[in-house]
Amino acid sequence: MVSSSRLQFEEVGEWAKIKHEILKRYLDQYETIFSSPRQKALSTVYVDAFAGPGQSQVRSNGTVLDGSPLIALDHDFDEFHFIELEPEKAGSLKSRIPARPNIHVYVGDCNNVLLRDVFPRVRYEDYKRGVCFLDPYRLDLDWTVVQTAGQMGTIDMVLNFPVMDMNRNVFWRRPEGVDPRDIERMNAFWGDESWHQVVYRKTPTFFGDEEEKVSNFEIAMAYRDRLVTVAGFKEVPRPCPIWNSTNSVIYYLFFASQKKPAHRIMDHIFRNFGKPRPENE
Ligand SMILES: C[S@@+](CC[C@H](N)C(=O)[O-])C[C@H]1O[C@@H](n2cnc3c(N)ncnc32)[C@H](O)[C@@H]1O
Repeated sequence: MVSSSRLQFEEVGEWAKIKHEILKRYLDQYETIFSSPRQKALSTVYVDAFAGPGQSQVRSNGTVLDGSPLIALDHDFDEFHFIELEPEKAGSLKSRIPARPNIHVYVGDCNNVLLRDVFPRVRYEDYKRGVCFLDPYRLDLDWTVVQTAGQMGTIDMVLNFPVMDMNRNVFWRRPEGVDPRDIERMNAFWGDESWHQVVYRKTPTFFGDEEEKVSNFEIAMAYRDRLVTVAGFKEVPRPCPIWNSTNSVIYYLFFASQKKPAHRIMDHIFRNFGKPRPENE
């Protein structure tokens, strides 16, 4: 048990509240659907792959927010799986949640833990269904995980698409200056190198062709296409932009599922959040 004075908090911006509210509203609906007698044969699994320490603190005013694992634990799933890379954060998380046999905390890289230990527990043929929240704040997620989730047929995925990290470290006006390790992270996140053709558009100028970066929204929509055509999710609503206090989109929240009703529910939740959205954002 970690003593309360050593418990860690994630430092977050105000906008984390929106992310948490979206997740909560989806889990509320999911719980309602799966509590109906028609779904009795199915057992439900919640997976949080970038779990964090369980609580966060808003940078600007010190408000303490419950993190995604605590929000999920307010819902009625048969199993919970939380994965956190940093042992201290995982320790803080453990001390904030009940010790129950159906709650599992893993310390490690979720890209391995999901494929090896967790996804095999959410198989269609075992009558399992699940929600998987993938919330990296940087490019720390491998496409293999997303593609596997798409092919399993059992998983509704909520995914943080960290466009700010991409802009800061990868999508430079002069791509030749980008650190090769950041290119590698981008390739791993996207699944291949095809993002390059999406992100840069050649524009003819008086001095010859110039490469210009397309909008964040176009990049997000290209990733949406991959979720459908490559990963095999049938239902992917338009992602929800999450804005910071200086009016930049810091990430997009994606939702991907195999089910039309799930699409409708999350699309409705997304549309209720944030600012009025122009067609291209
Ligand atoms: C944005 S925070 C998570 C916040 C949490 N989902 C919430 O809403 O309360 C991302 C977390 O992922 C962890 N992390 C980063 N890379 C990881 C990896 N490869 N596997 C598991 N956790 C990772 C970080 O240490 C950090 O705690």
